[in-house]
Amino acid sequence: MSPARSTDDHWERWGREDPYYGVYAHDSMRRERLTADALDHFFASGQTHIEGVFAYVRRYIDPAFSPRRGLDFGCGTGRLVIPMAGLMDEVAGMDISSSMLDEARRNIDARDLHNVHLLKSDDALSQLSGSYDFIHSYIVFQHIPPERGQVLFQRLVKHLAPGGVGALHILFGKTFHAANFGQTPSSFHDRILAVKRGVHRLLMRLMGRKAATEPEMQMNIYDLNTLFFMLKTAGVGEIHTTFEDHGGEWSAFLFFRKP
Ligand SMILES: C[S@@+](CC[C@H](N)C(=O)[O-])C[C@H]1O[C@@H](n2cnc3c(N)ncnc32)[C@H](O)[C@@H]1O
Repeated sequence: MSPARSTDDHWERWGREDPYYGVYAHDSMRRERLTADALDHFFASGQTHIEGVFAYVRRYIDPAFSPRRGLDFGCGTGRLVIPMAGLMDEVAGMDISSSMLDEARRNIDARDLHNVHLLKSDDALSQLSGSYDFIHSYIVFQHIPPERGQVLFQRLVKHLAPGGVGALHILFGKTFHAANFGQTPSSFHDRILAVKRGVHRLLMRLMGRKAATEPEMQMNIYDLNTLFFMLKTAGVGEIHTTFEDHGGEWSAFLFFRKP
């Protein structure tokens, strides 16, 4: 199977054209339909998520969990970084998309939060400085080709302080490939992509113009063996996992502490 291509430019477009749908792909989040109530629901879901993460870490990893410096990798419009800011001295939100970061900045300023830094991501994570007591990422790695995401995963773990807690969310299988234990059959993926591109080209030719297309949103499966190897290499002794099912796409939310 050929490696998935990078879609950084597509995330730039999501942030510019339809940022809330890009983060939370539900019809109520579409730019043309977005109401104040829907936005309240969007931010309330972030609050509930972070409260759940803290409760889980306190229950299974560290009852006194109270990080000082946190990072939300792939922060989008700030849905999760905003509640994190209320629980820590200092929070960084990092994203590959400048337009998402612009929207996050508007949301953070509207709430008068002064302890959030927004950082532009790159493959070297060159904007990160020092270490973090808590590194969190939710529904982000799935959108990054695994060859690239694995390296980012390892670099994030390196930025965890000793005793720091990681909470990283990873897609590992799809129920529509149950016969293949959730994994995309290699030739199948390439064939579907080739058909999609062919149909698109044909449509454009028939219409005699460039058809308007939505930015792409990849859903990439990761190999948990590789990530476990990285965690064990970093000295992690225990991993706690919750499973999630997003419409047949199965993910693992990995919680661990660096020794
Ligand atoms: C589905 S949104 C999730 C946003 C946020 N985590 C939340 O749950 O509200 C995915 C985010 O990941 C970001 N992203 C995609 N590729 C990335 C990369 N290589 N590095 C950092 N962020 C990335 C996108 O720009 C987008 O804002």
